[in-house]
Amino acid sequence: MMTKPTDSNLSFWWETFYDDAAMAVLADQDPKQIRSQAEMIMRATGLVAGQTAMDQCCGLGQHACVLAARGVRVVGIDQSPMYIEQARRQAAGDNKNPEFLVADALVYRHHETVDAVYNWHSSFGYFDDDAMNCQMLSAAHASLRDGGMMLLEFPNMPHLLNHFRGTMRTEHPGGVLLERESTVSPDGTTLHQTWTYRWNGRDNGNGSGNGSENGKRSHRSSLRIYHPDQLIAMFKESGFVDVRVSSHDGDELTAECARLLVTGRKRGDE
Ligand SMILES: C[S@@+](CC[C@H](N)C(=O)[O-])C[C@H]1O[C@@H](n2cnc3c(N)ncnc32)[C@H](O)[C@@H]1O
Repeated sequence: MMTKPTDSNLSFWWETFYDDAAMAVLADQDPKQIRSQAEMIMRATGLVAGQTAMDQCCGLGQHACVLAARGVRVVGIDQSPMYIEQARRQAAGDNKNPEFLVADALVYRHHETVDAVYNWHSSFGYFDDDAMNCQMLSAAHASLRDGGMMLLEFPNMPHLLNHFRGTMRTEHPGGVLLERESTVSPDGTTLHQTWTYRWNGRDNGNGSGNGSENGKRSHRSSLRIYHPDQLIAMFKESGFVDVRVSSHDGDELTAECARLLVTGRKRGDE
């Protein structure tokens, strides 16, 4: 089984997880931070104005919009029609707006090769199976020109495990309260989380708390716990060369880094 057959009832957690509640949380990212992350993307991939990039799992397209404003021609893809609609709405009116498409990043191959692909913010490792997760890297590889760069941003799992927090609570615009309960599977391979959203005792106008009973809704997610060396191996298996991991700043990765970057180059153009 590679991706879901069109006639299958099989469903994956992320197909329902990324709803309007998750959208409110994703929209609540500091624009300054998004701008600085877009700089990191350009630095790590070597992207310059006039070049092309694909944002794999672009969400609401915040990074794609910043890159487009810097002169990069970006195509952003996401499996959520609602998020793509929102991304298009956000970008509308900007004459350098990115192209946004609903597509499955596990198989999507762009019709023209691009100079760089990036996958930002835990949009990788959703399957239990490593070969399935590698598909995301292979799909990126297929969309890249020879010599093009792939960038993956992911939690630095040793840091996450050393600073493990079972419960986290955050508050977001629109009166959204999010509680995340986290556990690690007994075999240590997967991070399981339950995300419970509450609407602060209010509903959002439809009388039932954003379509949820008593203004509360829960979703589960699971993310593979890949250590940096495993990520490097997966990049190499997917055909990338010059693979390296680093901190967000491009420095040596240490146990103090909460998140990491993996970069790899598609062979050719030597
Ligand atoms: C944590 S969000 C990150 C969004 C964005 N990269 C950011 O940094 O704001 C993960 C995104 O991945 C998308 N996604 C997950 N699996 C996908 C797939 N197989 N194909 C396309 N999009 C996918 C979800 O719809 C969601 O928008």
